[in-house]
Amino acid sequence: MSANRNSALDYAQKNRDRFLEELKTFVRIPSVSTDPQYQAQVEAAATWVADQLRSLGMNNVAIYPTARHPLVYGEYRCAAPQAATLLVYGHYDVQPPEPLELWQSPPFEPTLSGEYLVGRGVSDMKGQLLAGLKAIESILKADQLNVNLRFLVEGEEEIGSPSLEKFIAEHQDLLGADLALNLDSGILAPDFPTITIALRGLAYFELRVYGPAGDLHSGVFGGAVHNPAQVLCELIAGMHDAQGRVTLPGFYDRVRPLSEAERQSLARLPLDDAYFLKITGAPALFGEEGYTSAERIGARPTLEVNGLYSGYIGEGSKTVLPAYAMAKISCRLVPDQDPAEVHQQLFDYLKAHAPSTVRWEVIQHAAAPAAMIEPDRPEVIALSRAMEQVWGRKPAFKREGGSIPVVAQLKSILSMPTILTGFGLPDDNLHAPNERLHLPTWQRGIETLIHFFYNLTE
Ligand code: BES
Ligand code: MN
Repeated sequence: MSANRNSALDYAQKNRDRFLEELKTFVRIPSVSTDPQYQAQVEAAATWVADQLRSLGMNNVAIYPTARHPLVYGEYRCAAPQAATLLVYGHYDVQPPEPLELWQSPPFEPTLSGEYLVGRGVSDMKGQLLAGLKAIESILKADQLNVNLRFLVEGEEEIGSPSLEKFIAEHQDLLGADLALNLDSGILAPDFPTITIALRGLAYFELRVYGPAGDLHSGVFGGAVHNPAQVLCELIAGMHDAQGRVTLPGFYDRVRPLSEAERQSLARLPLDDAYFLKITGAPALFGEEGYTSAERIGARPTLEVNGLYSGYIGEGSKTVLPAYAMAKISCRLVPDQDPAEVHQQLFDYLKAHAPSTVRWEVIQHAAAPAAMIEPDRPEVIALSRAMEQVWGRKPAFKREGGSIPVVAQLKSILSMPTILTGFGLPDDNLHAPNERLHLPTWQRGIETLIHFFYNLTE
């Protein structure tokens, strides 16, 4: 192993505490992208990332405004002629911290708890982004990189990257690269490195059901008008059949059947029922008939209620027939489903099933198709070797149930492939209270990325 590789690894070890302090500073910025109240803090997070890139010595660092949240850009030009170019992707936005009362420490006051740092965004994905930047910093202290870098760090990933498509299309020269390195994924367990080879897509809706002109006394009027909460529940209940399949018309038309080889490769992962029972804390597992949990999550589309609202939900009781009911509903998609088609399918379902006793409307939120990576690329081998160098075991390939819209966008607009990495864990409480980052795994992540950059060219 080259002396420089060792000194980079050494630097990452010695600067561990400072890296952690910088991560805490980043996490203290409440960059919640979905809620307009946080607009100023979202911008502060973009500025923080731009300052990081500048302090790494990156060129052309700039903040690009978009219709919603700014994008951060930067470049590293290496001396070697004909070197490849990597587009390093990250996002600086986070999910809302609610419900606040379930946090054991304030969400934006990063707090150490055993081997973990706790706070909103520590794992998804401020820690992952910083792992990439700190690996690069560690190399550049003693050495040069033998690859050109371009950085694309957005502030809208957690709302489906609505401005990114236009930005990519309009800045093709800026973003041109051989390959994207996406840092927003994770591994299966601290002792089980994995490489993500597929992501599901997403189609997210808000269904609003309106009944009487205003809230009514539930005794004085109950029985004479259709309750919108009841209508909403009936509509939602009809969205699955008894086999756990989604009933939106045409929903499965484009879904590729799972091949025997894919089923076997998913079955080799340590993801049996006992694992899912333990990690979810659910009393029993549930899902589409005929598939294992790993298949249901990795390779089958789903429909989930993400939020429900109607009537009185405060303390005690209030006798009211609500005028309004609302559900947030999302579908996870697999190749080759199209989010716009799924929106139409929901619309068709509602037209066929919603009673004329209510009015309804559908608001469309995030939309992102599924994505697959090419597992045979040399860069995947470089990453796999890097994991082996750090963990002492070869990584397994895994299909991820979550979504990252940029992957399909880069593919469709720039024909750019992506490799996915990142060192979050399934029990990091992503999008939930007490989100946490396992610090020993984070440190291994930084070391893995150092090895990865060397393996690319050595
Ligand atoms: N980093 C996650 C996706 C993820 C989770 C990848 C776990 C690998 C392992 C990402 O930030 C995310 O949560 N994305 C959203 C996207 C959506 C709003 C379009 C998601 O999946 O809900
Ligand atoms: Mn996320």
